Amino acid sequence: MAENLFIPDAATKAEKYQAVIPQIEALITGEPDLYANLANTSAALREAFGFFWVGFYLVKNEQLVLGPFQGPIACTRINFGKGVCGTAWKEAKTQLVPDVDAFPGHIACSSASRSEIVVPVFKGNKVAMVLDVDSDQLADFDETDQNYLEELMGILGKTL
Ligand code: SME
Repeated sequence: MAENLFIPDAATKAEKYQAVIPQIEALITGEPDLYANLANTSAALREAFGFFWVGFYLVKNEQLVLGPFQGPIACTRINFGKGVCGTAWKEAKTQLVPDVDAFPGHIACSSASRSEIVVPVFKGNKVAMVLDVDSDQLADFDETDQNYLEELMGILGKTL
């Protein structure tokens, strides 16, 4: 297993994702422990991109429950269809939110959070968890983040 994450210098965001995703894939492939994989995925994304908050909410008994993450403490439980995370679960679709204050029902775990992307992770055709990434800058995420984070969550989904 790799001991250090290699993050290319002066890379574009796309180049960084292209460098980091295979390393995360190598870290989690063959490791059967889900929490270990979610913890390392959160840590690698935080280290590579400096995200304000990045982590997972897992579907458990009809709620999303906080899982491994990097960043400030966060809300523990989110109901189906509530907030950005609950909406990504309900719609089984990525939510790209340039301004959290403009998203009806956004759940403010931190008042510093200004924009957000939430990507569902599928086990078969059901949402098993969501990846949530928050930024303290407005409109910090775009289709590049969406495409690569969806690719990475597809890889993660195959380990479930
Ligand atoms: N803002 C999220 C809640 C989770 S925190 O941002 C970590 C939401 O509206 O679902």
